[in-house]
Amino acid sequence: MLAYWVLNNAFQLFSLGFLALIWSPNVAARVIEVHHPRSPTGGRQVIRLDTDWRFWHSFENPDGITYNQLKAYILPSSNDFIANPSDRHQQPSSEPNITVQYADNNFDDSSWETARVPHDWAIKGPFYVGDDVPVGGGMGRLPVQGVGWYRRKINIEPDDADKQIYLDIDGAMSYAIVWLNGKLVGGWPYGYNSFRLDLTPHTVVGQDNQLAVRLDNPTESSRWYPGGGLYRNVWLTKVDKTHVGQWGTYITTEASSSSSATLNLVVSVENKAKTARDIRISTDVFEFDPETGRRGRKVASFPRISRIVSPNQSIDFNSSTTVLNPRLWGAWPSQNPNMHIAITTLYTGDGDKAIDTYETRFGIRTFTLDSNKGLIVNGLPTRIQGVDQHHDLGSIGAAFNLRAAQRQLEILREMGVNAIRMSHNPPAPELLDLLDQHGFLVMDEIFDCWEIQKNPNDFHLIFPDWYEADLRAFMRRDRNHPSIYLWSVGNEVGEQHTDEAGVAVARRLVGIAHDEEPTRLVTSAMNFAKPNMTFPTAFDVISLNYQGEGIRDTPAYSQLSGIATPPLYDSFKGAYPEKMIESSETASSLSSRGIYIFPVTSVISAPVNDTSGGNSTTMQVSAYNLYSADFGSSPDKVFAAQDQHPFVAGEFVWTGFDYIGEPTPYYSARSSYSGIIDLAGFPKDRYYLYQSRWRPDLRTAHILPHWTWPDRIGKVTPVHVFSSADEAELFVNGKSQGRLVKTQYSYRFRWDEVVYAPGELHVVTYKDGKIWAKATVETVGDAAGLRLTADRPSIRADGEDLVYITAEVIDNKGRVVPQATNYITFDVSGVGELVATDNGDPTDFTVFPSKHRKAFSGLALAIARAKMGKPGPITVTASGANLQPAKVAVKAIWGVNLVLLK
Ligand SMILES: *[C@@H]1O[C@H](CO)[C@@H](O)[C@H](O)[C@H]1NC(C)=O
Ligand SMILES: *[C@@H]1O[C@H](CO)[C@@H](O)[C@H](O)[C@H]1NC(C)=O
Ligand SMILES: *[C@@H]1O[C@H](CO)[C@@H](O)[C@H](O)[C@H]1NC(C)=O
Ligand SMILES: *[C@@H]1O[C@H](CO)[C@@H](O)[C@H](O)[C@H]1NC(C)=O
Ligand SMILES: *[C@@H]1O[C@H](CO)[C@@H](O)[C@H](O)[C@H]1NC(C)=O
Ligand SMILES: *[C@@H]1O[C@H](CO)[C@@H](O)[C@H](O)[C@H]1NC(C)=O
Repeated sequence: MLAYWVLNNAFQLFSLGFLALIWSPNVAARVIEVHHPRSPTGGRQVIRLDTDWRFWHSFENPDGITYNQLKAYILPSSNDFIANPSDRHQQPSSEPNITVQYADNNFDDSSWETARVPHDWAIKGPFYVGDDVPVGGGMGRLPVQGVGWYRRKINIEPDDADKQIYLDIDGAMSYAIVWLNGKLVGGWPYGYNSFRLDLTPHTVVGQDNQLAVRLDNPTESSRWYPGGGLYRNVWLTKVDKTHVGQWGTYITTEASSSSSATLNLVVSVENKAKTARDIRISTDVFEFDPETGRRGRKVASFPRISRIVSPNQSIDFNSSTTVLNPRLWGAWPSQNPNMHIAITTLYTGDGDKAIDTYETRFGIRTFTLDSNKGLIVNGLPTRIQGVDQHHDLGSIGAAFNLRAAQRQLEILREMGVNAIRMSHNPPAPELLDLLDQHGFLVMDEIFDCWEIQKNPNDFHLIFPDWYEADLRAFMRRDRNHPSIYLWSVGNEVGEQHTDEAGVAVARRLVGIAHDEEPTRLVTSAMNFAKPNMTFPTAFDVISLNYQGEGIRDTPAYSQLSGIATPPLYDSFKGAYPEKMIESSETASSLSSRGIYIFPVTSVISAPVNDTSGGNSTTMQVSAYNLYSADFGSSPDKVFAAQDQHPFVAGEFVWTGFDYIGEPTPYYSARSSYSGIIDLAGFPKDRYYLYQSRWRPDLRTAHILPHWTWPDRIGKVTPVHVFSSADEAELFVNGKSQGRLVKTQYSYRFRWDEVVYAPGELHVVTYKDGKIWAKATVETVGDAAGLRLTADRPSIRADGEDLVYITAEVIDNKGRVVPQATNYITFDVSGVGELVATDNGDPTDFTVFPSKHRKAFSGLALAIARAKMGKPGPITVTASGANLQPAKVAVKAIWGVNLVLLK
């Protein structure tokens, strides 16, 4: 991205050598170049504003301010993203007619709490339980609503007098309004977009300046948990008056063959100086290793260009170059995600005085979105094995954390996932860096609604004023990421239902997207639009939610009201023979980890109700993974639909991880049931079904359910096995239950007549007649103790890195007790502290920061971190009544501790 000039206040204590060691390779998977803050080498300074914030939150509006009242002062913040000059907003000539004590330099904020950014004010709870509550199940029952104020001093040094000073916010939830020294600077309402504000006119040089940010989260503004606050990174950028603009480089690659690729570069240079500047730019391209942050071989240089840039002008410097024998970026696991970095330097005057340096990470690759072969990456057809992901990180909430995101990707990748859909909003920029680095494919999406509301206070209220700026800002930020193969401008929007009016909005958005970023195709996810309607005509790619495999189209769903849709892959293919078709949402298969409800349906897919896989009293759903939301399907039904239509590019499963909010089918709960992996990050049984399909060479066999059923002796207890094998034989206490052959379009082995007897289940699977994999599940004893396992032996002592500790309730032979719900108390001693606990139970209303947590289906999770700047030992212990306690030791260390995907 750029030569970061990271100055983390806490680390000023340490020598520069230490700084470089701590920061260079691992922060946010970006290149961090650390220079001495007082002797810049001709770069920009990018200072992370993470510590030293003061924060205060109120459920009422404490200051009487509303977005609408100050709209005229906020809209000009979007001007750089409005193409037509006459549509840009005039800054009002007078100051706003309000006084805001919380923005005032003299306001005493010493009674406010201290906060470290990224910060989510709502995640600590408590949960709202019951019916008549301000925030219900949809938004996760957490206190997201109200107004939050963040204040912090920023130092503007004498050297900064002739600089431009920008505030860069990666994401603020929501309706951000920013003041500096009591003066209103601007704002950005959409909580998921990144934005920049120019602080320069209001800075006072040579002293501390008071920054104040006001956020306002309406209730009924989201269909899921949005989080609240400065929940992504915030940066202060100090740069020469003449500099590379915000997201000011754009690199596209053309006709890459194995022997050569053409690179086209646009550098937008902005001159905020009072005089014209004679600018020369040079850009060198290197191979780049995001794991270490190291540049490799220099592979090309763009021709140097000189131009005069007038005051207040922004001009594009365009150039092209060729890379011979490029190392291509490709999708894991069949290709390697090789990255490059372009380093652009701006010079002025006669000498070689560098005034700005800017880094752009990118990849050289070709995507072809083919209507018959699906997605082709560098000539290789690559099936989309994707999942939809929301932005929250489970019990730590919406506050972005690199390790939490990385852990999710590790777990997904082990399952065989190669693609992520950003449902339904722009992600943290660091997440895209991770996805590039690890070779995932990305469908990058911006909106969940347009003009037509899904909730009374959602984005539709500001769509008319902001859609263009939000869309352009989103694409300009993300366009250099090689992992993004497709833009999505919407999800299941109401405009699908409004014929010509709806398609007109769609065309406007697609037009802007093509104008802004012509190298990629554009879609929106359709759960209603049919092939004979005009809505799909607006898009380059047909992206279906649930419609491909059919909605409520089989007898098990026939009692449901709601639209029944036959499987539509063929009719879409008939109507749009030239367009690639993919499924952007499939399944919505529901389950609670480790919960099995009887009897088990005999069909391959059924909706959840009280006699079909669900229990509305316990609010749990059976993990046989045959049950779905009313509009959904089991994985098995989706697999068959995909295999019968090989032209379909693949699927994104709703969802990879469980997420907070939207707890279909039980809205009295806190979190979703749709995840393949629960909210704590523990795989449900379904994980192994996807793994058996997506990693067919892995020798696995996974048995469900568990086999500890004291009250089921003599009762029919179906046994299912997920395996990539083609035959399997099940034994109950040594007695064969029959050898089954997987038939075409079936994806699991199921013995539905097994009668429960305590003892042992054993399965032997075969592929091509040879033994492939075996598995055993035993009846276990009573809960006797605990076992703790840390996901890593050491973590960085930076106050951010996390260790995830799994607690298992075990019997006296060390076997996990599958129905255990024992209370566990976690204690963290040494230099660490507990961040959160969870167990993946969607109905658990214990607050996330609690040290006490009930096990759910035998497991619980504790998340700990090291205190900032405090290396040393951390010990985590777990105890519970009548259980042998357990402990695990973790080291907090200085320096490099790269945790990378294998
Ligand atoms: C200031 O705002 C109030 C209401 O917000 C309005 O009634 C008043 O006329 C405004 N005064 C000026 C000078 O604009
Ligand atoms: C540049 O823009 C600023 C702010 O809009 C304005 O005050 C200034 O007069 C402009 N300078 C020139 C040379 O156009
Ligand atoms: C530079 O490239 C951009 C993007 O391709 C294009 O919009 C613009 O017209 C080009 N400018 C020049 C001067 O060629
Ligand atoms: C589209 O086709 C369906 C049935 O296939 C039909 O019921 C509907 O009226 C058609 N709609 C339009 C707009 O032609
Ligand atoms: C529950 O779902 C089953 C399908 O699995 C269906 O046959 C039954 O009618 C449903 N019951 C109710 C009360 O809707
Ligand atoms: C749901 O769970 C409760 C509590 O365990 C149990 O009493 C009830 O019978 C269950 N209901 C169904 C429909 O299985």
